[in-house]
Amino acid sequence: MTYLKQIEDHIDSFPEMPSMCRQLLGYLDDPQVDFTTIKDLVQYDPGLTANILRLANSVHFGAVRKVNSLQAALTRLGTRKILELVLSLTVSSRLTVSLPGYGLQARDLLRHSIWTAVAAQELANLLNMKQVEMIFTAGLLHDLGLLLLDPFIQKERLRFNQAVDTLEASFEQVEQDILGIDHARAGGMILAKWQLTPDIVAGVRGHHQPEQATAYKELTFLIHLADMLSLSEGIGTGEYGLQHNVCPLCVKKVGLKKEHLEYVASKTLDRMNELENILS
Ligand SMILES: [Fe+2]
Ligand SMILES: [Fe+2]
Repeated sequence: MTYLKQIEDHIDSFPEMPSMCRQLLGYLDDPQVDFTTIKDLVQYDPGLTANILRLANSVHFGAVRKVNSLQAALTRLGTRKILELVLSLTVSSRLTVSLPGYGLQARDLLRHSIWTAVAAQELANLLNMKQVEMIFTAGLLHDLGLLLLDPFIQKERLRFNQAVDTLEASFEQVEQDILGIDHARAGGMILAKWQLTPDIVAGVRGHHQPEQATAYKELTFLIHLADMLSLSEGIGTGEYGLQHNVCPLCVKKVGLKKEHLEYVASKTLDRMNELENILS
């Protein structure tokens, strides 16, 4: 059986999206939804409630005035932000595992994912792309495909090392050559199975080949650039993290300058500790 077929089969046993997120997704485009319904959904989980309050009061989610009740926190955040937050809180626990195939220690992937999510949002703010929604979630989930491919990389470790040493190919190209799929597409497949919104699926699927994006281009470009920035800062690089190429078209299209990168890197660093504490 080819690796691609095995990987596709493996997706079926990949954990489902948490049921609360599925219910929240159903409310996303429902203009009639009221926050009491959402409150009823989350209030029986005390850990989640506490974290929603912490996040609603965090600088990251734009807090200017402290809120003390779940209802007030939910009203402040709005449906999309609540979904983003619950997804972040529930999925982040899955990103704390070590991935020996990629040479990532426990928490490396979580740190890299949070860094990318925050940097992508900071880039969107800085470049005035405020209409790009769900960017934090797309950033947080962008490397979810690593979880799926890691066991296969472990099996083929020798071939990967040889290919990376001898070819001038990017790492995702080596994944494609050896496994028949790269981790960006694998991540997109998981998220499509979870029936996440098409912008998140497209951003994750395209984060290493953003020039090929046909929809949700801005979001895909920003995730790619934030990811590259995260790797260049040495956040969660693992063994192959630096084998990725920056897309010059994205840099040009979003009008990115060196001073933007320095600004975003320092702002992201400021917010990392707060978010890492909440999301782990
Ligand atoms: Fe990636
Ligand atoms: Fe990444």
